[in-house]
Formats: sequence, structure tokens, C-alpha cells
Amino acid sequence: MHSDHPIGVFDSGVGGLSVLREIHHLLPREDLIYVADSAHAPYGDKSKEFILERSTAIFEFFLSHKVKTVVVACNTATAAAVKELRGIYNLPMVAMEPAVKPAAEQTQTGIIGVLATSRTINSNNFQVLFARFADQVQVIPQACPGLVDQVEQGYLDSAETRALVAQYVQPLLAQNADILVLGCTHYPFLKPIIQEIAGATIKVIDSGAAIARRLHHLLHHHGLSSESQQTGSVQFYSSAENGIADGVISELWGSHIKTEKMTEVVSV
Ligand code: DGL
Repeated sequence: MHSDHPIGVFDSGVGGLSVLREIHHLLPREDLIYVADSAHAPYGDKSKEFILERSTAIFEFFLSHKVKTVVVACNTATAAAVKELRGIYNLPMVAMEPAVKPAAEQTQTGIIGVLATSRTINSNNFQVLFARFADQVQVIPQACPGLVDQVEQGYLDSAETRALVAQYVQPLLAQNADILVLGCTHYPFLKPIIQEIAGATIKVIDSGAAIARRLHHLLHHHGLSSESQQTGSVQFYSSAENGIADGVISELWGSHIKTEKMTEVVSV
């Protein structure tokens, strides 16, 4: 591992771009490699074993590119696989955690809504996170089936997306939540409509910037911060064939992106 090696960032699909943009913003001199596991998205309805298998395949791909650290930019993969990944790979890594802590500090009503995939909400990690704040605030989890698919298809403002957001957000507002935590990295791309449907008095927060700061500290701690004076490169890979993810990735990243096919590296 060397400071001029790249950082690997991955998600089941395009959601991790919401974390990647914060990393690129905070650490512009780092070289970044992003993998969208588009051929297997969403992870939310897959088994723990399957998500661990895919995460391992992506780690092997990253290692073949000599990454110095990996950011698991997916709450679902964090919940399903990160404990095992930390056991398998001796590599500094950063994983997701829904922003319940800052929400607990900022809530006025003492009630926080958390939007995430069912797999994240039902995970042990999440139960532990809930328990940590249970004596301070009331945390209401809300699973949001279908939202990841809407983002994967680039439907950020369609009638169907709006109907789903309203269906998931309104019960939280009815229970007097004043902060909505986005516990899935796809959801920051829906923040404009979530905010609009929730109303201006409701805070909508995610963990992207906090993850970038944690990465910054981790690199510094391990003496792995890039010493380059130039803007780093950002390379995009997808497990899907024929660049079918290119359109959505370009839309979300804000410039024309041509993904390369992620080669499956078989581990022995
Ligand atoms: N971006 C992933 C997350 O943060 C989406 C999960 C999925 O693919 O279902 O949870």
C-alpha cells in the first residue's frame, strides 16, 4: 500500500456516487475507482451470503488495481458483509452508518425517521445503532422498497417516485419526526423531492460528507494521504454489460461518463 495508490469505492449500483462526490470534493487529489455492481442491483432483496460474495468479488477487483483503501458506499453491504470483510482483508476500510448521531443532536421533537432498505433496517448493525440512542430519542425506521430501483433507472422526479416517497415519508411526519435520516446511499439523489414532500421545516440529512471526513482521517492516520499536487483521476466500472449504466451515472455525476466493464477476479 502506498499513498499514491487509488481508493476503491463501491455500491450495488449508482447510489455510492452520492458518497463518491463528497470524497472527490474533500480529497480532490486522490485517485478514485468506483464500482457499480449494476448487474446485481439492488442488494436490498438479496441474501446476506450473496451480498458477501459480491462484495468479496469487488474487493478482489480493487486489490488487482492495488487500492490503498476501500469505501463500502452502501449501507446494505455494510450491514450484510462488512464484519466478514474486515476479517478477510487486512486493508483500511470505511463503511456506512446512517446519520442517527447528528440527528439525535439536532432533533427538537425527539423523534427521528430513518429511511433505508429492509435489509439494512433488519440488520444487527442497525439494531445496535438504534439501541445506542434509544434512551435519548425515538428512532422510527422506515423500509422503502422500490426507491433504489427508481434511482437506478434515473427516475429522480417521476410520478411513481413521488408517490413512493410520499408513502414512506408521510407516516414519519404523522408521528412528529422532525429529522429524516437517509440511510441508503441512493436516497440523497431523491433529496429534492423528499425535502419538498416533507416541507421546509423538516431536516433531511445523509452521511456522505461524514464518510469523506472519516476517510480523510483514516488516510492521514495510516500515512496514506496522496501527496500529488494534481487533481486525481476518477475511473468508473460497472458489472453490467454494454455500458447500460453509463446514462444514469453520467446524469448523477454531472458529466459524460463511459464505464469500463468490471472484470470478475476469481479468488482462491
Ligand atoms: N445504496 C445501497 C444502500 O446504501 C442500496 C441498497 C440496494 O442495492 O438495495 O443501502
